[in-house]
Parts: sequence; structure tokens; C-alpha cells
Amino acid sequence: MTCTVIVGGFFGDEGKGKIVSYLAIKDNPKIAVRGGVGPNAGHTVVFKGTESKLRMLPSALINEKTKLMIGAGVLVDPNVLMREIAQFNVGNRVTIDKQCGIIEEKHIEKDRSDAYLKGKIGTTGTGCGPANVERIMRIARLSKDVPSLSNYIGDVSFLVNDALSRGETVHVEGTQGTYISLYHGTYPFVTTKDVTASAICADVGIGPKAVNNVLIVFKAYVTRVGAGELPGELSEQEAEKKGWLERATVTGRTRRSAPFNYELAKRAVMLNSANQIAITKFDILFPAAKNLRDFSLLPAEAKKMVENIENGIKIPVSIISTGADAEATIDRRKELGLI
Ligand code: IMP
Ligand code: MG
Repeated sequence: MTCTVIVGGFFGDEGKGKIVSYLAIKDNPKIAVRGGVGPNAGHTVVFKGTESKLRMLPSALINEKTKLMIGAGVLVDPNVLMREIAQFNVGNRVTIDKQCGIIEEKHIEKDRSDAYLKGKIGTTGTGCGPANVERIMRIARLSKDVPSLSNYIGDVSFLVNDALSRGETVHVEGTQGTYISLYHGTYPFVTTKDVTASAICADVGIGPKAVNNVLIVFKAYVTRVGAGELPGELSEQEAEKKGWLERATVTGRTRRSAPFNYELAKRAVMLNSANQIAITKFDILFPAAKNLRDFSLLPAEAKKMVENIENGIKIPVSIISTGADAEATIDRRKELGLI
């Protein structure tokens, strides 16, 4: 296995951080590189009892041997990035592409004060939209022009392609989710770029032929923050009763929720050319699955759901997350012949 792209199949917050952190420990990638929009993403990683929240750095950081990179298509907020580098003490293994767009204070202010963005769309208020506008206008500053970032600047697309040409393992981390893609999502209630697998590759600077696996991540139920349609949406009371009521990592807002949606999942697999599925929060749906690592020990109804997904969507469920910790994971890739 060389190049795996990990993408979100619903509206973001599918638990990609958890899946990516497990894969980082298990597959020992030489490089983990982030695509996606920017610090509007929030990933939660739990490893050996310690919880980390990340907005800029790849979630693979729990593997100390993995180089951590950010692709040219990703917006960088230098304040958020420098804070994370200091917090996790990873400065010696971080490279940011020289051509990342930069989020400035004025972008954050605009995102938070604009009646349409704040009121109608319900953005994360992290400045991503206004910064991408300036990028498109070709007036945005780039990472290579920011002195505080100078120690971390490099040619990420070259480094990634070079590692791939030597047969090294590279994990490409997507952020957000298919249905908040600017092109394929529930417009206008979407983020400010495409975020499907091909866009994540473009962010990093690799073409479709470089990719061996597209692993799409679905939560066992669907959640969404901000406005926009959510088929089968539950009331907050119903969600709370089921244990599905979550709070957003970046904004602290309550996430709206709905049952697993086979139609959305099937279309997301198509849009991403996914060849395998990871399901997260399986222990929330099936408490008896909590922290299990062996598929055969799952309760019958949980196995049935996996079977239904595989029959309905026609690609294998290779990874099942049964708890927040990176190690609470059922990995079926070997038995399915995927590694
Ligand atoms: P923006 O990307 O901050 O402009 O927000 C646009 C929409 O995308 C809002 O509904 C946000 O809640 C949503 N969004 C952006 N990034 C994420 C994410 O990482 N997870 C979940 N929702 C997101
Ligand atoms: Mg998130």
C-alpha cells in the first residue's frame, strides 16, 4: 500500500481524525499530508488517554516518525498553526507548502460580521471564505511571504511525489465532507471549495493515478453543523436520547443529527471513487461494540448493519471505530485482501 486518501462522506465531522490517527500508528506512513479548506476543520484525536484537538496539523501527528505536511491548496492561519506546533512540539517534522494562502485578521472579522455568511450560511467564522475570495482575486498573501513561517516552508508537492516514487507510504488527509463541497454539496450551505477526493489530491499536488486507495469515512449516524438540508433530522431531544447530540470542535455549536443515510452514502462513494469504507462511532449505535477490536465479537445487529452497508453500497467496510481512542478499532483490511 502506498497512497491512501481519507475523505469525509457526509457533512464533515465523520470522525476522520480518529481514523487517520489509527492508520498513522498501524501503517506507519512516511508522510501525512493535509488537503481541505483550512482551520475551519476540527479533528479530535485520542491516543493513550490523551485527547488532542487539531485544526491545521495532520491528525497523524501521534506517530512520531511521520512527517507532517500541509498542501498548497490549504489555507493557513499562522496563529493557529504556530500554536499547534508549539503545543505538540512537532516543529522538526512540519512542512507547509510555500504556496498556501494565508488567513489574516480581516478575513476572520469579515467571516464573523457578514450577515449572509454568519446569519444565513452559518460558517465556522474562521476566515476561510473571505481568504479564499482573495486567493481567487489573486491578491491573497502566500505562506512563503510570512516570516514567522519561514522555518516550515517547503515544496510539499515535490516531497510527496518524491516519496511516492520511492514506494513510501503516504496518507492524504481530507477535511470537511462530501456534502459540504462547493461543487457537489448542498449549495449554498457548503464550504468554499470542493472537498471530494480529487480536490484533496489537487490541494496536495498529486494526480488521480498516484492514488491506490480512497477510504471514505461515514459516521454510524449523520451530523451537520450550520444551516442546510439534513434528511431525517431528529429533534434535539431525540438526538440526546440516542446519545447522538454532539458539540462542534471549532465553534462549540450543537450538531444536528439524523440516522445513517444509505442514499447519501452511495452517492458519496460515487463522487469520491471510494474503494473502502470506514465507519465511526459504532459503539454509540451498538454499546456492546465498545472498544472491540475483533469483528467476530460484534453483536449480531451490528454485523447486520455492516452487511447492509456492503450490500447496499457495494464496497467493503474495512475499518470500524468502536471508541474514541485510536486503538479502539476493528481493522478488516487483511481479511478483505486490501493490504
Ligand atoms: P465555512 O467553511 O467556515 O465557510 O463554513 C461553511 C459551512 O461549512 C458551515 O455550515 C460550516 O459549519 C461547514 N463546515 C466547514 N468546515 C467544516 C468541518 O470541518 N466540519 C463540519 N462542518 C464544516
Ligand atoms: Mg470536525
